[in-house]
Amino acid sequence: MVKFNFENSSINERMIYEMESVVSENHKKLHDNPNIETDFRGWIDLPENYDKEEFERIKKAASKIQSDSDVLVVIGIGGSYLGARAVIEAVTNCFNNMLPAKKRKMPMIVYAGNNLSSNYLTDLLNLIGERDISINVISKSGTTTEPAIAFRVLREAIETKYGVEEAKKRIYVTTDKKRGALKGLADQEGYETFVIPDNVGGRFSVLTAVGLLPIATAGVDIDKLMQGAKDAREKYMDPSVKFNDCYKYAVVRNLIYNSGKKVEVLANYEPQLHYMTEWWKQLYGESEGKDGKGIFPAGVDLTTDLHSMGQYIQDGERILMETVLAVEEPHSDIIVKEDAENADGLNYLAGKGLDYINKKAMEGTIEAHVTGNVPNMKITIDKLDEENLGHLIYFFEKACAMSGFILGVNPFNQPGVEEYKSNMFRLLEKPGYC
Ligand code: PA5
Repeated sequence: MVKFNFENSSINERMIYEMESVVSENHKKLHDNPNIETDFRGWIDLPENYDKEEFERIKKAASKIQSDSDVLVVIGIGGSYLGARAVIEAVTNCFNNMLPAKKRKMPMIVYAGNNLSSNYLTDLLNLIGERDISINVISKSGTTTEPAIAFRVLREAIETKYGVEEAKKRIYVTTDKKRGALKGLADQEGYETFVIPDNVGGRFSVLTAVGLLPIATAGVDIDKLMQGAKDAREKYMDPSVKFNDCYKYAVVRNLIYNSGKKVEVLANYEPQLHYMTEWWKQLYGESEGKDGKGIFPAGVDLTTDLHSMGQYIQDGERILMETVLAVEEPHSDIIVKEDAENADGLNYLAGKGLDYINKKAMEGTIEAHVTGNVPNMKITIDKLDEENLGHLIYFFEKACAMSGFILGVNPFNQPGVEEYKSNMFRLLEKPGYC
C-alpha cells in the first residue's frame, strides 16, 4: 500500500484539479494502444501480461543457482541492475552479504559492469576467490561497454575455474529476444537466456527477467512482488487525478517545478532504501532530463545526510523540493533502556523505541525544511516487503511516465546518454569513431 501526502507541498487541491484535463489527455496517450511492439509502454501491463513460462524458468534457474553457487554476480548497468539491487537491498537483511553463508542461506549477490574501475573488478575477483559462482549478465542492447568488459573478464574467470562446459551451465544471459552481440554469443555458446521485451525500456524493466532472476536468487518472493505491482496497476488505472495518487504525485512535482524549484530530493530514513533512491534517480533522470528541461532528481539517506547535505537543504539556494519516502513499520525495533549514570543524558528516551525516535526525527526535519521553503511531499509504504515494493515500483514508474508527458518530453528515450559514449569511443580509437 502506498500513501501520497502533499499537505506540506505548497500546492492545494484546486491547483491539482485544474490539471485534470491535461492528466486525462496524457492518460489516454499512455494507455492508447499499449501493446504495440514498437514503443516502450509494455511495462504498463507487465504485472498481468508477463511471460508465465519464462517466469517459472526464472524460479527454476534461481533455485539452481541457490543450490550450486555461493555468489551470483549480476553484470549490468543503469536499468539493467538498479531495480534488482533496489528490491534485494530493501527486502533482505541490511548486512546480507556479510552474514555467514549458513545464516544467509541464499547466495551472496554482488554487482559488476556498473563502472569501469579496475580496482573494483580486481577486488570483486578476489572476493569471489574459491567460492562457487554463477553469472547473470544483463544488457538489452548487448553492446554496452561497462557490462561487456566485466562479462569478458568474469567469463574467463568462470571458464578457468570450471572448464568451458560447466561454465556454460553457470552463465545466465538476459537480453533482447533477437538482436545484439550478447544474444549472438548466448546462442553460440548455448547459455540459458531470458528476454527483455522489445516494448520495455531498461529503466522500466525491473519486473521482467532483468530484475526477477537476481531478486528470486536472493530469496525474495517474486510472486508477491508481482502481486504488489498488479494491485498498483489496478489502483492507478483511474484517469482522474482526483482519485489517482500516482498522477497526483506527477502533477504536484511539476507544479512545484514550475514555481522555480528545479531539484527534487528523495529522502529516506531507512538505509535499506538507499538503492531504491538510486533506482528512482535513474528512472526520473533519464526519463525527464531532456530538451533543456526536467527536475534534477537527487537523493539523501537520513538521518545520515542531515550531517552533510542537511545544511544545504535547510539553508542553501532555494531550488529544492523534497519527497520523503517513509516506511510505517520497521521489521524490528530496539527499546532504549534506562541508565543509572545517564552520562549521555538519554534517559528522557528510556522506554521509547528507536523507530519512534527515527519517526520524530523525520517529522522534525520535514517541519524544518518546510519552514525553510522546501516544499514537501511524502510517500509512505506499510513495510519493506515484496508486495509493498512491487506496488511502489509501479507507482513510481507510472508517475514518471505521466510526469514526463506533463513536462512535454518523451519519457521513454535517452538521447543524451549517447554523447559520452561517442567521445569515449573516439578516445579509445574504436573503429568507426576516430
Ligand atoms: O534505462 C535505460 O534504458 C538505460 O539506463 C539502460 O538500462 C542502460 O544504459 C543499460 O543498457 P543495456 O541494458 O542496453 O546494457
